[in-house]
Amino acid sequence: AYDATPYLPSRGGLPAHREAAAECRGCPLHRDATGTVFGRGAPHARLMLVGEQPGDQEDREGVPFVGPAGRLLHRALEEAGIDEEDLYVTNAVKHFKFARDEARGRRVHKTPTVREARACRPWLMAELRLVSPELVVALGATAGRALLGPSFRVGTDRGVPRPLPDAEDGTRVLATVHPSAVLRAPDRQEMYAGLVADLRTAADSL
Ligand code: URA
Repeated sequence: AYDATPYLPSRGGLPAHREAAAECRGCPLHRDATGTVFGRGAPHARLMLVGEQPGDQEDREGVPFVGPAGRLLHRALEEAGIDEEDLYVTNAVKHFKFARDEARGRRVHKTPTVREARACRPWLMAELRLVSPELVVALGATAGRALLGPSFRVGTDRGVPRPLPDAEDGTRVLATVHPSAVLRAPDRQEMYAGLVADLRTAADSL
């Protein structure tokens, strides 16, 4: 089975994990991606954000949320009054999964499979343990499922903080929509307002 576990260091903090994650071969996604995009931010942030997987630009730069979805997210965080100094940002899956659109010369995002997300989950669990945030915001379904289990649905489970299953240190999780979904939505403004409102709820519950 696909599994990142053999690649995790047995000890060490975030820097040791970031270094080890760069060599992860726990699923096939490393083959086509430029490199692993590990989480970034304050090592003991009170708030952690979890996205789906790096996009094209994140893959090139090795940093989460620096592309179009990231710009929307950073604007929403600012509107919600969230200080990025107190934030750790990562993804449920740490390699970019894509298909090549040869006609347009672009790499098109593909949703990671359940197996790929499950394989990558040990990295996310290690980040949770090391950062030990008060609250985790799951951005979209892939992150929601990684944190809350397979029955998670954004439509019914968003906007309310709840205990993170199996968390030893009282960490809670709040789910919301993915910023890429906002970019694609026909009712973009409404969905963006919903994202900001959920982020405000997150900020207020710290
Ligand atoms: N979308 C994500 O889920 N994560 C990123 O890092 C960029 C886009």
